[in-house]
Amino acid sequence: MQMTDLPFIQNAEAYLRLCYSELKKEHLLDSRLQNVRSEINKTGTYDLLDFELDYGTKVAWRNSNKCIGRLFWRNMEVFDRRSINNIDSIFDSLLEHIDFATNDGNIKSTITIFNNRQKIHVWNPQLLSFAGYKNDDGTIIGDPKQVEFTEKCVQLGWIPKMGQFDILPLVIQIEDKKPHWREIPKDIIKLVPIHHPEIESFSELNLKWYSTPIISNMILEVGGLKFEASPFNGWYMGTEIGARNLADESRYDMLPKVAKLLELDVKDKNSLWKDRALVELNRAVLYSFKKAGVKIVDHHSASKQFMEFTRKEAKEGRDLTADWAWIVPPISGSTMEVFHTEMDNTVKTPNYFYREEPWSL
Ligand code: ARG
Repeated sequence: MQMTDLPFIQNAEAYLRLCYSELKKEHLLDSRLQNVRSEINKTGTYDLLDFELDYGTKVAWRNSNKCIGRLFWRNMEVFDRRSINNIDSIFDSLLEHIDFATNDGNIKSTITIFNNRQKIHVWNPQLLSFAGYKNDDGTIIGDPKQVEFTEKCVQLGWIPKMGQFDILPLVIQIEDKKPHWREIPKDIIKLVPIHHPEIESFSELNLKWYSTPIISNMILEVGGLKFEASPFNGWYMGTEIGARNLADESRYDMLPKVAKLLELDVKDKNSLWKDRALVELNRAVLYSFKKAGVKIVDHHSASKQFMEFTRKEAKEGRDLTADWAWIVPPISGSTMEVFHTEMDNTVKTPNYFYREEPWSL
């Protein structure tokens, strides 16, 4: 339930004003505001109309300071699932999202929004992710980032498979009832095996990644309303996988292995072996996604697209907000215009905000 304090009403009003003005519906604004005010006074909250919610998801993306891909903020498929209230239909909707958004590789930006009047928790941080298992000696198989969530899945009865790239099940909880899990059918998951365009032995590393990054641990906030379950996705930028997920020491930590394949001198810092391994790993990621027919963007193109977004926003008379530390890609920063651009990290709403881990609530 929302509280009837002033900020809530003000949030609602501010968003409706923005929405109706940007969508050129000013003639409808006054009566809508009256309805919303009286609804909030009577019940403590209100519901967004379909088009208000739809536009809100997009403005929330436009306001996402960390996102380099915002040029495309108007293009998002919205699945309004606010009327669903049982766990099976929630699972079905999530599977539908994965399948639709993956679109056989031609990834479509998509968001699914569940009922905000019911506490629906998607425990997965992303709908697709790889399990991480901690061995007794402290070593880890799989993705170290998912060790805690993987343990929760196992506690709920999911059988660990002990592989490097096991897709975790979906875990859903309604209110404070027992969480349920369901395996994601293999035929709707697209995994991309990582090969290198020249170095054949690269394939022996047996690396892969999933096609579609579907964030499910952020809360969509529009007009003062919070949608706790609102998974959304874009397509990957290569460096997310090649310079972070597969490369970070706290993730798959592959740089020493890649350096070995390349026969680089890992004892000599001046050999820049990490830098050279990073570049080849990132080439392999971009090459493999292309080859598998899965949409991906390289960081140079993404940087150009972001600069185009900044120019378009200026033209529309809006102040751009962005988080430099996130916008600048993790490799070759200074080669891109975003590196040389000052950014204002003020947080606006609508937006997507991090939530607390549902199992800690
Ligand atoms: N960095 C996250 C990952 O590697 C995904 C974040 C969202 N990325 C995106 N391209 N929409 O899985």
